[in-house]
Amino acid sequence: MTNINIIDRNKLPQHVAVIMDGNGRWAQKQGKDRIYGHEYGVNSVREVARAAAELGIKYLTLYAFSKENWKRPSDEINALMSLLVNTIKNEISILIENNIRLLVIGDMSDLTDDCRNEINKSISQTSANNGMSLILALSYSAHWEIIDAVKKIARLVKDNKLNIEDINENVLTENLNSKGIPFPELLIRTSGEKRISNFLLWQIAYTELYFTDKLWPEFSKEDFYKAIIEYQNRERRFGMLSEQLK
Ligand code: FPP
Repeated sequence: MTNINIIDRNKLPQHVAVIMDGNGRWAQKQGKDRIYGHEYGVNSVREVARAAAELGIKYLTLYAFSKENWKRPSDEINALMSLLVNTIKNEISILIENNIRLLVIGDMSDLTDDCRNEINKSISQTSANNGMSLILALSYSAHWEIIDAVKKIARLVKDNKLNIEDINENVLTENLNSKGIPFPELLIRTSGEKRISNFLLWQIAYTELYFTDKLWPEFSKEDFYKAIIEYQNRERRFGMLSEQLK
């Protein structure tokens, strides 16, 4: 029994963001090392990206590597970077066939030249696609993104291009690394952890949060549909009263 038929196509979120957590625990449960979990997690990436594109979701952001993940042991970091670059390289033709545009948010200056060049190549190969945007958050943290925006705004003020009084929510949003990408309506986190881990803090002010105990490698398209259905059943009030929405 699939849940896809219960989804209301007129009430889809435009942007879904995902914290893909639990790869390490999943691998350890199978008696394997953590890298095996990341490798297996790529299957869930593929499945969820396909499900989102087929539904007509316009933006899917995946938290692939945080700024804090650089503190992990170097063999795990190296394996994750190779996995990311190789997966992008291997999947590029599928992205192109499906009119998917690849974008990255995060501090690309942290990556090795090779990684950055490969990723930039794939980004430009898909830049004309106008179907779903698949956004990888890579060496990303929301604090980094907000501080980076504040520095840009401070420079505009210093250069007399912006008055302090004119700084507002739009100015901050427009100076974020993720500018141009609408805020997510739904954020999914797998693995049972109920925290945000420095992901899209500015953008999720009114985002619906969905937590599931499934570990990322176990998360399937049906689990994705379930999250969409739960989102569609929530009342989004944006600080107003229920009656005002009717
Ligand atoms: C968190 O699980 C997962 C990551 C830090 C990496 C996610 C990356 C992938 C699934 C590969 C992605 C590939 C592409 C192309 C997007 P964890 O290691 O923190 O798990 P744990 O909490 O059980 O230790």
